[in-house]
Amino acid sequence: MSTTPDSPATPYQRIGEGAVIDAITDRFYDLMDSDPAYARLRAMHAPDLTYMRRSLAGFLAGWSGGPRDWWVANPGKCMMSAHRDFSIDGEVAAQWADAMKRAIADVAPADGEIADALGDVLARMANGMVNA
Ligand code: HEM
Repeated sequence: MSTTPDSPATPYQRIGEGAVIDAITDRFYDLMDSDPAYARLRAMHAPDLTYMRRSLAGFLAGWSGGPRDWWVANPGKCMMSAHRDFSIDGEVAAQWADAMKRAIADVAPADGEIADALGDVLARMANGMVNA
């Protein structure tokens, strides 16, 4: 990671770049797939999570300041609008946020401050998707 006072590290760099984002995303879907606490959230997703593992990791990479391939592949796509057609209540949003916070804690990025901030802001994003 090369940064100067004029170019502070992006969240993407601080979290540990693509390898750590991929590990968090994989852990998130592993938890969703295996822990009955997330059964309702799991049931909303397709049986095969391969596409989601790639898409969420790509989204998180670009959103945190890294490679923007996901946006190139999904021009104009808004993550909030993309969830409008799903019925999302507070319980299922809390399942998403809890699984994500656990995934981040399990991967344990070296920079704990950015790891906590990431978990908090993603939980707020999930809460903002509640529409039912
Ligand atoms: C609030 C709770 C949430 C629920 C219930 C939810 C549910 C879903 C569902 C059912 C899908 C489609 C899955 C499939 O086709 O198998 C999806 C797609 C997706 N979700 Fe969520 N989601 C939530 C929060 C979030 C958040 C907070 C983010 C981003 C930080 C996110 C990122 C994505 C991405 C990247 C996709 C794939 C979009 C695409 O490539 O077309 N989701 N979500």
